[in-house]
Amino acid sequence: KTPLRLGVAGLGTVGAGLAILLRDNADIITKRAGRPIEITAVAARDKTRDRGIDLSALTWHSNAVDLASDPNVDVVVELIGGSEGTARSLVEAALKAGKAVVTANKALLAVHGDSLARLSAANNAPLLFEAAVAGGIPAIKTVREGLAADRLLSIGGILNGTCNYILTAMRETGRDFSDVLAEAQELGYAEADPSTDVDGIDAAHKLTILASLAFGQPVEFDSVHVEGIRCIGALDLTFARTLGYRIKLLGLARQSERGVEARVAPCLVPEATPIAQVDGVFNAVIAEGTFVGRLMVEGRGAGAGPTASAVAADIIDIARGNTVPVWGTDVTTLKATQSRPASEW
Ligand code: HSE
Repeated sequence: KTPLRLGVAGLGTVGAGLAILLRDNADIITKRAGRPIEITAVAARDKTRDRGIDLSALTWHSNAVDLASDPNVDVVVELIGGSEGTARSLVEAALKAGKAVVTANKALLAVHGDSLARLSAANNAPLLFEAAVAGGIPAIKTVREGLAADRLLSIGGILNGTCNYILTAMRETGRDFSDVLAEAQELGYAEADPSTDVDGIDAAHKLTILASLAFGQPVEFDSVHVEGIRCIGALDLTFARTLGYRIKLLGLARQSERGVEARVAPCLVPEATPIAQVDGVFNAVIAEGTFVGRLMVEGRGAGAGPTASAVAADIIDIARGNTVPVWGTDVTTLKATQSRPASEW
């Protein structure tokens, strides 16, 4: 059978992880996808860097946007990151060219998801982004497919692995914030600019995407209330423990009669609850629906393996022809909405 040919933009932690996963699991991936999946072209800054896999025989583009017009690329995989610049230009160009796009880019989806959904629909070009939320947890598929029949009342959870890793290590070892952050960066969990993680912005990007899917209306990112974890010190963690709580950075969105409320903030959670037990780089997605009730899905929220696994699952969906509209519904019926200001809740 003819292979599905990938053009991968960005060969950092996730891009290299994807190449290794596609090589190591080629047998099961080919079976499940119904055809082989191979990387034919890449775009990254440094061709000579050791990535744990030899990619030198592939076509290398110096401008990632050229992947959109490469005739040997069927699917563009965008792993550059950032809501603007090359990542945005590449995704838009690929969709306009009618190519399927798989991305791990939460900032891009949170800020431009509405217009990209329209571009995807207009050009009949699937846009999948499982890896954009909660790393290896199938969070998007859970909400968009598994819970497709239910009215969701709330959605959210622990959505940033770096913050959860920092809060866990500070609590367990009493180490310093900056010391633990450096470790999370070394492990490939943190964003290029780690203030995106520690100031809650990354979690807010993911919450925006989840809330848009859950409530069937693109939520405007700028209207989400955001607080990070810089203000949390050793004393807070000690007080929390004494009172029987743990501190977690939670992103939570709910829909009430008065509209969508979405916020990211450090929260005290009772020690005995399942979400309090989610530690380290693990994330948890919690949802509540009128028929399904409450559920929680837990897994690694960052890192090469988990994120590559989510990217590859989307690629297999494309190979199978199993694609869905960006927000799980016809874009022409959608209206963007703002989260209500926190002061009104
Ligand atoms: N920096 C992100 C995190 C990576 O720590 O969760 C995964 O999106």
